[in-house]
Amino acid sequence: MDSVFIPPIKIQGIKTKLVPLIKENVSLSRHTKWIEPFMGSGVVGFNTAPRTAVFADVNPHIIKFYNRIKAGSITPQIAREFLEEQGSILAQRDDEYYYEVRDRFNSRHDSLDFLFLNRCCFNGMIRFNRDFCFNVPYGHKPNRFNKAYVTKIVNQIAYIAELIKENDWSFVCQPFEKTICLADGDSFIYCDPPYIGRHVDYYDSWDEQSELALRDALVASGARFMLSTWDHNEYRKNEYIASVWGFCHKLTKEHFYHVGAKKINRNAILEALLTNYVPEELEERKKAEC
Ligand SMILES: C[S@@+](CC[C@H](N)C(=O)[O-])C[C@H]1O[C@@H](n2cnc3c(N)ncnc32)[C@H](O)[C@@H]1O
Repeated sequence: MDSVFIPPIKIQGIKTKLVPLIKENVSLSRHTKWIEPFMGSGVVGFNTAPRTAVFADVNPHIIKFYNRIKAGSITPQIAREFLEEQGSILAQRDDEYYYEVRDRFNSRHDSLDFLFLNRCCFNGMIRFNRDFCFNVPYGHKPNRFNKAYVTKIVNQIAYIAELIKENDWSFVCQPFEKTICLADGDSFIYCDPPYIGRHVDYYDSWDEQSELALRDALVASGARFMLSTWDHNEYRKNEYIASVWGFCHKLTKEHFYHVGAKKINRNAILEALLTNYVPEELEERKKAEC
């Protein structure tokens, strides 16, 4: 199995472990336009590496970061110099400096500060308060931006910069309804919306009305789609799979989340992939049963 490329920006709910299953079961040709309305870290689309893609999110800082790589104002070299310099100040002033950069980011919104905070905050989380200020605490670790860590991040940026150069990709900050409108019958839409009842962030609120609006937009698009959601955990099952997505095919996989203040949110949950076409794995299973 190919290894999975990890993007430079992390986010809670990152689908790294699901990438192989998703890749095996998406329905793509060379000409398919990939539409990803909830890009988050972008790990799914970046690993699927379609020729043409629209990556979107309501979080403007994620989108700005990738647009700056695309425009060449963030390069691997620029990122290296920035992280080395900021990392050495962090090594001396520790949490005091983390909170200084956090304040600086909340007033200037610079993408390099966003990268820095994302790579040294608690658990690589992205969380904004009701005033849209980044409020994740420091993820204390001595010599955090050591040489190997900086090189790892720089290589991630170099890899993604190359993919952006080779392909026709755009990054847009907008709500999912607008992004799904860009799809046609030849598009493939991969959706990973926030999970109902699990949100931690003000760019990330989600309720039943959002779930219904997403279903209606996907159906109206006429495109093939895959939706990531949760199936069940030890305590409860996702009732929306039957009530909202009953017409879809379902694949499942166990996945573990570390994020969540409540114990109920930290347990193993079974992830589901819902599609409006028969995915390869289900076809194979059916053939084997015959
Ligand atoms: C679960 S995360 C996606 C994770 C991503 N698939 C990954 O593997 O990294 C959900 C994303 O949806 C974005 N989001 C939340 N509500 C949205 C909306 N109404 N329209 C577009 N994006 C939204 C959040 O900012 C967040 O980045």
